[in-house]
Amino acid sequence: MGFPENFLWGGATAANQYEGGYLSGGKGLSTLDAITGGSKDHPRMITYRTKEGQIERVNRDASLPEGATGFVEADQYYPSHVATDFYHHWQEDIALFAEMGFKCFRMSISWARICPKGNEEVNEEGLVFYERIFDELLKYGIQPVVTINHFDIPMYLADHYDGWSDREVIDYFLFFCETIFKRYKGKVTHWMTFNEINFLRSWTQIGIHQNDPQTLWQARHHLFVASAKAVVLGHEIDPNNQIGMMIAYIPSYPMTANPEDVLAALQFNRQQETFIDVQVKGQYPAHLLKYFEREQIEIQQEAEDENWLKKGCVDYIGFSYYMSTAASANPEQVKYVGGNQQPAVKNPYLEESDWGWAVDPLGLRISLCQLYDRYQVPLFIVENGFGALDQVMAEGEIHDDYRIDYFQKHIQAMKDAVELDGVDLMGYTPWGCIDLVSAGTGEMKKRYGFIYVDLDDEGNGSLARSRKKSFHWYQQVIQSNGEDL
Ligand code: BG6
Repeated sequence: MGFPENFLWGGATAANQYEGGYLSGGKGLSTLDAITGGSKDHPRMITYRTKEGQIERVNRDASLPEGATGFVEADQYYPSHVATDFYHHWQEDIALFAEMGFKCFRMSISWARICPKGNEEVNEEGLVFYERIFDELLKYGIQPVVTINHFDIPMYLADHYDGWSDREVIDYFLFFCETIFKRYKGKVTHWMTFNEINFLRSWTQIGIHQNDPQTLWQARHHLFVASAKAVVLGHEIDPNNQIGMMIAYIPSYPMTANPEDVLAALQFNRQQETFIDVQVKGQYPAHLLKYFEREQIEIQQEAEDENWLKKGCVDYIGFSYYMSTAASANPEQVKYVGGNQQPAVKNPYLEESDWGWAVDPLGLRISLCQLYDRYQVPLFIVENGFGALDQVMAEGEIHDDYRIDYFQKHIQAMKDAVELDGVDLMGYTPWGCIDLVSAGTGEMKKRYGFIYVDLDDEGNGSLARSRKKSFHWYQQVIQSNGEDL
């Protein structure tokens, strides 16, 4: 009973939010280097240069005018540039992860650090940087779990190819994959292709200047084909490789037993499951093909694409789980709620974080059951956590009992899914195991870590690391393999 002996306890990060060193060691610019800090009420902005050479700012979710090129404006604060500086603190940080007892560590590789322009020019210094990190992790017996691409694209590919809407980007991505699969063979065996593939829709994430449904779905098709080809390639290069997909999973509950609400919830959930259907079953679901027909969306495909999708099915489903949501057929009730990325309804049974994310531990068990019952492949919770304001006490201590409470309940729910529902769960990597920049708002004060980093929303601070109360708690959870919560 309980978690399997080889259960992968760990933590998760992403290069653009943690690494920094944005121009060090030969790294090229990434789209996320052009995005400013923001807050819950003030969206992050993209600063870019127009065709005429002017500098403009636009909400990061808006479209960019044709010919606009990403540009970093000097007098703005860009959180990715230093982030929480893993670039210079990796040895210290890995030692802290080892002290907590991590069995694995999820991180992403910055594409622009390996291929500064995203094309076939390789930056050896970038390859060496990650190699040292993997060696350091392995020294402590920590398995690297690598997200190949987390929320960005080399700026050159966004500017010169309109990002993923251009089919050529598939080949550039595969070149990047081949480079890292070969170089890190024997050191990394756990991979994921694209972080939260269902959330990729903006210039910063996939380099497209317009995000009308036609452009977006064409880009998504290219992402699917690229992911499938990467899975095949990764298996060829090293049959030990386990290559997963990664989705943001936010289960939606019908607001009432009214069948209209039940249908609304089903439709909400489908929008996420579509991405799993393609990557686990290797084909587009029927309801999506009908949507394309109705909306006159025509995906340009090559003859072999269908086969690639079939051949390149993933080995496991990695997913993030932070919250659930509710669905209603009544348009009056449906409005944007908190951290939910799609219009939804506030669930009166759940409390929310300061950022409006509904806290729902049982929803994690429900998600695990829904995903495992439906897909029957191993699952990996690669993100979960509580973004909160932490108070540093006079003696430097941080008593984050609210975070411990959140994790305690979520880990219990996941334990129930394993013990009572028979879900095949590979591991658990809480998000932002060390404080890092928030992806949504660009803030530092929305903290997730077991390890505190001294840095504020304007980039001031010593970057010193310290252990929060939750650090010691998680250490004991791992030590007891999830028994001592
Ligand atoms: C996920 C992303 O959506 O949620 C992470 O994969 C992100 O990159 C995390 O940081 C938490 O979101 P936020 O906006 O609180 O940073």
